[in-house]
Amino acid sequence: MNHGLGNLVATGPLHQIIIGLSLSSMVMAILIWVLEFSGWTISRRGFVRNNMNWDATTVALIAVSAAIYIAGRPIQFQLLPGVGGLNPTLSLAPILAVLFGLPGAIGVTFSMPIGDTLSGALTVGSAAGFLGHTFLTWIPYKLTREPDFKSAKAVFSFFLWAVVVGPVFHILVVAGWLDFTHLLPTAVAWSALVWILLVNHTLIPSLTAPILIQVLYPFLKARGIYWRDRFRANGTGVSAGFESRSINGLVEALPAQAADSTTSVVSPLATDFEVVVDDLRFRYPTASEDSLKGISFTVERGQFVGITGPSGAGKSTLALCLRGLIPHVCSGSLRGNVTVCGLNTRGVRPAQLGEKVGLVFQDPEAQIIGLTVEEDLAFGPANYEWPREKILANLSSLLDSVRLHGAEKRETFSLSGGQKQRVAIASALMMSPRLLIFDEPTSELDPAGKEEVFTIVRDLCNRLDVTIIMIEHAVEQLAEFADRIIFMDHGRIVADDTPRALFRNVDLFHRTEGERLPHVAELLFLLMKDGLISSDQFTPHEDEAVEVLSRLLQGSDV
Ligand SMILES: Nc1ncnc2c1ncn2[C@@H]1O[C@H](COP(=O)(O)OP(=O)(O)OP(=O)(O)O)[C@@H](O)[C@H]1O
Ligand SMILES: [Mg+2]
Repeated sequence: MNHGLGNLVATGPLHQIIIGLSLSSMVMAILIWVLEFSGWTISRRGFVRNNMNWDATTVALIAVSAAIYIAGRPIQFQLLPGVGGLNPTLSLAPILAVLFGLPGAIGVTFSMPIGDTLSGALTVGSAAGFLGHTFLTWIPYKLTREPDFKSAKAVFSFFLWAVVVGPVFHILVVAGWLDFTHLLPTAVAWSALVWILLVNHTLIPSLTAPILIQVLYPFLKARGIYWRDRFRANGTGVSAGFESRSINGLVEALPAQAADSTTSVVSPLATDFEVVVDDLRFRYPTASEDSLKGISFTVERGQFVGITGPSGAGKSTLALCLRGLIPHVCSGSLRGNVTVCGLNTRGVRPAQLGEKVGLVFQDPEAQIIGLTVEEDLAFGPANYEWPREKILANLSSLLDSVRLHGAEKRETFSLSGGQKQRVAIASALMMSPRLLIFDEPTSELDPAGKEEVFTIVRDLCNRLDVTIIMIEHAVEQLAEFADRIIFMDHGRIVADDTPRALFRNVDLFHRTEGERLPHVAELLFLLMKDGLISSDQFTPHEDEAVEVLSRLLQGSDV
């Protein structure tokens, strides 16, 4: 075949086209490095920051990749003197790039001219090895999926980009350059050389990569070295150069149509986010699809964020991720990152996170452990070996905060549902958390109990600067108390906005089964549609709605 290819390429206009493509690819490779070293990269969204952190780990990964590559190059079985041979080390190029990302790509690619210099073999031909390797590493780094080879899509993606497309560009560059510079006769460049390159960059990686990646990927992933985990939201929270595709819910309300789609408002770089969720995906071990399908958002300190959405949307799963119970207690496949109070949940044990993050569930019975209120509140801090005096001092002031003044000695079984839920909130507050997550805390309470809990939580948020994430179906209360509401459906965020803007998005609620608008919002929307009130009179807040309606009724002499 290859003599045929050699003959075909060696003559006529095709030869010139191929040489042209080869030289343009080399220019493209140079541009790629200029871009990446300036901190930018190309993505489906155009030019974006590459988020590379030049920390000690990055430098170490570059050095390790380069060292492995340089050390392995002499291991070669000569096939064609002066042209090349079988070199198993070359199959490591895409593997290092896929696992380490840009540092792997840099280490491997730049080791080519460095290795040539060290061995005294730097020639005009070295340019081809260097720029050709750009494609062997950069394409797999940019285009392959996370190499979790339990998924057929991940295996396919690796083979497509790392074993087929990358090597095709590499061959184009290497054979084209050696032909163009007359370092090899055209026929040899496009026949014997192509064969050798195919064996080294396609055949050998097809055999070695599945084994090496299956061993190395889980190992690196567990230690936080896998590149996507390092360069999205790293353990220090929002690092310099971190580009968040998240949502700043306090920015001016988006128009209803914009809120309707998966939001991707770019928030300004900031260091005071209490929560940074970046492209979070999670699948339960027995499930056939992800319960969270690429969730990204941020929460600023002291915000009260409501999360709503139909049953099965993934709200409780998200709460478990935020509290770090996923992945440490509930297993499954987790991708992306969750950084809470500056800690990446992958890297800290839930007990450690428990001092900063509290989680209150729907069923107060299930979370009350103590026989008396006092015992219940003391349980958490006692486990953390807090001194008795500190526990007692916190206890009575917290009971005041949740409006259970003097209830220390009351037996927990004698409390009403609303009171039990308030005890659960006080218990969560005992550890002085910075973030409190509630998963449908009022679903078992009557309307008065709901209002009570919301009022207390809002007050905590204002007074103690506690950040609140509240998962709720109680839309009236969310409208009144939350700064911002995230609407989830089928594992995705479909809207993220202020209550006023979100509840104006009537279509979203009408087409989502099981979720409704606050009644007043529904009514005012109909009046707005009939031209009876103006768009800026629309509100989901009951008090304001009553005013709007009474003005309307007075005006119409009803
Ligand atoms: N332990 C589990 N194993 C397998 N699948 C699960 C598990 N827990 C939840 N799921 C699935 O994950 C998806 C999201 O569930 P989740 O409980 O997070 O939804 P939710 O939004 O909290 O719903 P609800 O409003 O009913 O509480 C659902 O499809 C559910 O069936
Ligand atoms: Mg739930």
